[in-house]
Amino acid sequence: MGIGHGKVILLGEHGVVYGRPALAASLGVGCRAEVVGSSSTRITIETGERQRAFSRAGNDKELGCVELSADRESNAAQQESLRKAFVALLNSYEKPLPDIELRITSDLPGGAGLGCSAAMGVAATRAIDALFGLNRDAIEVADASMAWERVFHGNPSGIDSAMAARGGIAVFRRGIPLQMVDAKVLPLMVIGHSGESASTRSMVERVARQHAQSPDELEAIFDAIAELVSQGRVALEAADLAAFGRLMDRNQQLLERLKVSTANLQEMCEICRAAYALGAKLTGGGGGGCMIALVADEQDSIRVINALKKRGYQAFAAHVGVGG
Ligand code: PMV
Repeated sequence: MGIGHGKVILLGEHGVVYGRPALAASLGVGCRAEVVGSSSTRITIETGERQRAFSRAGNDKELGCVELSADRESNAAQQESLRKAFVALLNSYEKPLPDIELRITSDLPGGAGLGCSAAMGVAATRAIDALFGLNRDAIEVADASMAWERVFHGNPSGIDSAMAARGGIAVFRRGIPLQMVDAKVLPLMVIGHSGESASTRSMVERVARQHAQSPDELEAIFDAIAELVSQGRVALEAADLAAFGRLMDRNQQLLERLKVSTANLQEMCEICRAAYALGAKLTGGGGGGCMIALVADEQDSIRVINALKKRGYQAFAAHVGVGG
């Protein structure tokens, strides 16, 4: 059995693609993978119990219970990506490979900014490693699983895969070992789904087009985001949640300037702030998917969740950074 954590980006998405740091935290939910047979090479994705929390997201059909063969073409784009990712991962092992029937159970919605594809890739890598008696550490597993992740994201920074493999709260920067953050409290976040499915790949491409048009402006935004990340680390290490919430709000403003937020995500952030959240922002690629709101305690999380639900958004609360 292999596992991969889901994650939220607390501060710094998109800048991290351009070499800036980002602060991320693992979720208690993720994906599990097991090798269940060897009569053919195939992969099955099942929807776990906890994914149902996001029923409004409409992603269940895309990820739930797809069955595909690694050596046959598939029409559905999502299934085709999964097939290609599985083939890419298998190709990264030394030959000859036996037939492998892999079953992945995902408790994360796809296209939501919670690192579902990376969690699946890490879980799959660990399950296949176990079959071969390979004992790799979290960094090596994350690196190996990038063969899978590149199929989904084209130019991933690697933050999702690193967090899926390692867990905890960490500062990630391309090409530099993950720096674990000694957070004095594990922040309690409300994670709300906009109901819009999002493609990280297309959001990264959108930012790349803007960057090509106005490089100086975009570089300045990335620098401002990087500054929030370094202040955020200090705030977490000092357990200053109020300060951290303000940094999240400022990061959301910068993400709006990058045009990766949506009307729904912005409305959700405002609803959360009005219901006592300490700060709120989208998380992950944007263009839909999820947002996060920092809350001081469980009572406030219930207030925030109810306020979101009243406006038709699904949400749950979780301490982030667990599993590190
Ligand atoms: O949407 P997610 O959960 O895959 O997060 C993407 C984060 C980006 O910074 C936008 C892209 C990346 O590869 O780091």
